[in-house]
Amino acid sequence: MPTLQPRDLDDGCPDSAPEQLQELKHDGSVLAIAVSDDYIFAGTSKGEIAIWSLGTYQLVQTIQAHKRSVLCLFLTEDSKYLFSSACEPIVSVWCPKTFNRLYEIYSTYDVGDVFSVVYSPQRETVYFGTQTQDIQWISLKDPARRVAHDSPNHPDKRRHRFFDSSTVGGTSTPRRTEDHYALIPRAQTVLEVDQGAVRQYAHYGWVFCMRIVKGPAVFVDADEEVLVSGGGDGTIKLWRLSDDGPEYDDTDEKVTGDIEELMVLGEDDSESVMSIAVDGSFLYAGKLRGIIELWDLDTKQKLRVIKAHDGNVNTLQMKFGLLWSGATGGSVSKHSTVHYSGNTNGTAENVSQKYQCLSRWKAHHAKILSSDVATHNNDELFITGANDNTVRVWRVNCASTQTDDGVGPSEDMMITSLRQFVSYKTVSSRPEFTEDCRKGATFLGSLFKRLGAEVEMLSTNGLHNPVVYAKFSGKLEPAEKRKRILFYGHYDVVPADMKGDNWQTDPFKLTGRDGYLYGRGVSDNKGPIMAALYAVTDLLQAKALDSDIVFLIEGEEESGSRGFQDTIQKNKDLIGHVDYVLLANSYWLDDEVPCLTYGLRGVLHATVCIDSKHPDLHSGVDGSNMLSEPLSDLTLLLSKLKSSKNHVNIPGFYDGILPVTEEEELRYDDIASILMRRNPANGPVDALKRSLMARWREPNLTIHRYNVSGPDGSLISSHATANVSIRLVPGQEVEDVITLLKEFLREEFAEFESENTLTIRIDNKAEPWLGVPGNYIFRTLEEAVMKAWGPVAAAAEEEGTNTNGVEVSLPVNGTNGELTAPRTRKPLYIREGGSIPPIRFLEKEFNAPAAHLPCGQASDAAHLHNERLRVMNLLKSREIFGTVFRRL
Ligand code: BES
Ligand code: MN
Repeated sequence: MPTLQPRDLDDGCPDSAPEQLQELKHDGSVLAIAVSDDYIFAGTSKGEIAIWSLGTYQLVQTIQAHKRSVLCLFLTEDSKYLFSSACEPIVSVWCPKTFNRLYEIYSTYDVGDVFSVVYSPQRETVYFGTQTQDIQWISLKDPARRVAHDSPNHPDKRRHRFFDSSTVGGTSTPRRTEDHYALIPRAQTVLEVDQGAVRQYAHYGWVFCMRIVKGPAVFVDADEEVLVSGGGDGTIKLWRLSDDGPEYDDTDEKVTGDIEELMVLGEDDSESVMSIAVDGSFLYAGKLRGIIELWDLDTKQKLRVIKAHDGNVNTLQMKFGLLWSGATGGSVSKHSTVHYSGNTNGTAENVSQKYQCLSRWKAHHAKILSSDVATHNNDELFITGANDNTVRVWRVNCASTQTDDGVGPSEDMMITSLRQFVSYKTVSSRPEFTEDCRKGATFLGSLFKRLGAEVEMLSTNGLHNPVVYAKFSGKLEPAEKRKRILFYGHYDVVPADMKGDNWQTDPFKLTGRDGYLYGRGVSDNKGPIMAALYAVTDLLQAKALDSDIVFLIEGEEESGSRGFQDTIQKNKDLIGHVDYVLLANSYWLDDEVPCLTYGLRGVLHATVCIDSKHPDLHSGVDGSNMLSEPLSDLTLLLSKLKSSKNHVNIPGFYDGILPVTEEEELRYDDIASILMRRNPANGPVDALKRSLMARWREPNLTIHRYNVSGPDGSLISSHATANVSIRLVPGQEVEDVITLLKEFLREEFAEFESENTLTIRIDNKAEPWLGVPGNYIFRTLEEAVMKAWGPVAAAAEEEGTNTNGVEVSLPVNGTNGELTAPRTRKPLYIREGGSIPPIRFLEKEFNAPAAHLPCGQASDAAHLHNERLRVMNLLKSREIFGTVFRRL
């Protein structure tokens, strides 16, 4: 006989949290959760059901489902119905696909809160457990139960038992009519529970939880559905369901259905049963103070008492051969169970393994009130809800579904790989991260290799971070016939300081929140690299990769791609010929409209230094008008570079720049108007257009930073330097601009007749790039974007073609005469103000056209704190690359 003494919590259970995929925030405690193949449904303390799509974690809809807290959500196994109950005497039935409200169910008297709802598919009957200690039932299909929407028996119409006095002269408490009540959708059908379809005092306490299970014990048929209920009285009851009315029913209209008590487990007046899970003939009951009881239904024996948590065990699920539980203390745990199906041999050998706590972790710093388990894309998920207003999604892959050969689970491996990739602090601009950069490169190299690429780490003479070369071979034979696509990206990132409260979460720990992934580099450029890589593995698995895909992922893009050109030139034989260059390192113009980028500005970074022949000096002791001060010289010198309105004074600076053509002008008009329609706050339209032109087709000069020698204090620094950059546009040659800049500064400085010396260092440079939107690679990308992002609108006839060569929808008049949101038929062709040094170089070096897919949204905050990438964008980008790699 196993011990009935609860084991202590100090059971050596490993405290190991699995991967948290997402945290979804809403504005109310999450008291109920149900998960379908497509959605997570969460019932909240505001009476809402929030619906997120599984996989992308986008909030799809919020339904005002009830007046008060949703207490229970129950999804039928076939996903036909979603039931909800709340702190009100109404049960609702929803379609979990359309979110329509199919039925509204109420009882003829006040049952208070409804804690639990289940459904019998065999009888098409709903059973619900109430605050008045009843279990009631109603058939969804019984026409006799249908009533009018304004039935006088409806709880909204009835007087309140306690608060409304109906005696003469009595008062009636005015009902709270809150605005949000009006938001509750009208049900298609209203059903009134038969007065006799009730088992009063089913428990001597609230009926907290119920399940319907098939053939749980020897004394029922294997196929027979049995209702299990757990109550505030501490008992668990099993009920036989029948179609006949109750014996006590002597009314003319016979009540349909009855429940007949089969078994009672537990003592009256013991602690409440908060949750139930059933596995074969074993029943688990979650109770107060962290206790889970195990009952054998065949023998009615309590086999075991497990102390699983601190706090009440509010939720229990049996899934993946394990027992999942969550408690008020915020912890969740998984326990091994006796499981005789599948590969377990069920012998005494593994008895000691049974009911072992395999892991326990703090899932919320709050009370866990709800949970569910689900499988999505080969991932096993445990989803928890708590009174911290969040739903958390845990990837718990514990069963044997994981394989190591890349077959099956790879769709979900992408985010795991990205999580690992982000954890490397590959900051190229700081020497203290050199090792991290190496390790990041090695990680990436091994990942490519594991997924089937030929990999080389191209050394940059040990002076710089290596370039990762990875080639996936297409299957087309002979090899000369294959198209060869070069994907360029960078694994280095800009620094991320945790100083202050800049970042909500650790920048090097990928964090999923509200449909986004947060972390340094997720958008620039680690996420897009993973999307491209996993797109290739998708094609390999489908045996659909014809072309060769060559990845060149460098480690110093954020520092001006130092060493990249040399390294590529040295390894040209290895890389071979290239037909197309593809990259993905920019963003949409807003958060809605998919874009393709066909232009980038060039850039040059310079350091201007003024040095004195003196050491640092004291400004009081040594300072006089006879001394040339480096910082004063530098300030004066830099002030010559620009006049007001940011006009650059370098003679000849603007000379080569092409004037705006009429066609170009119209293109900007189009983009501006589309962005405006999406979000009028972008406007006014003229200002938006001016701003786009200034950022995309006009140069600019920025003074970034001044540096001085010596400690703080009243010093005259002996050295002063400033970092200056110039963004360049087509028509400006980088080398020419460098010459002009140097000449200008030297001439101006000469005028000062200073004793100090001037040096100008060029730190890095990049040519501007202008692609050809109509070429084959852009057309292929364009089709792929349209395929991934959305149905070409049915209203295609209403759409025009703009001068951008880009078809866009015209605003469509809605029935009420308002403008409806326009649909872009094709992605917006845009340019960008940023720079990517290698792109023009690669085009020239391989004589191949480049194209640029922006994966992220305008709000990605690359280079800033809380950098992020929307999960949906990551998944769509993978899809787009897949199409492009297949079709090019
Ligand atoms: N992805 C950016 C470039 C970019 C930014 C393109 C915005 C389009 C829109 C890239 O990683 C970057 O930061 N580039 C640097 C290059 C510089 C260090 C030579 C830049 O633009 O400042
Ligand atoms: Mn960047």
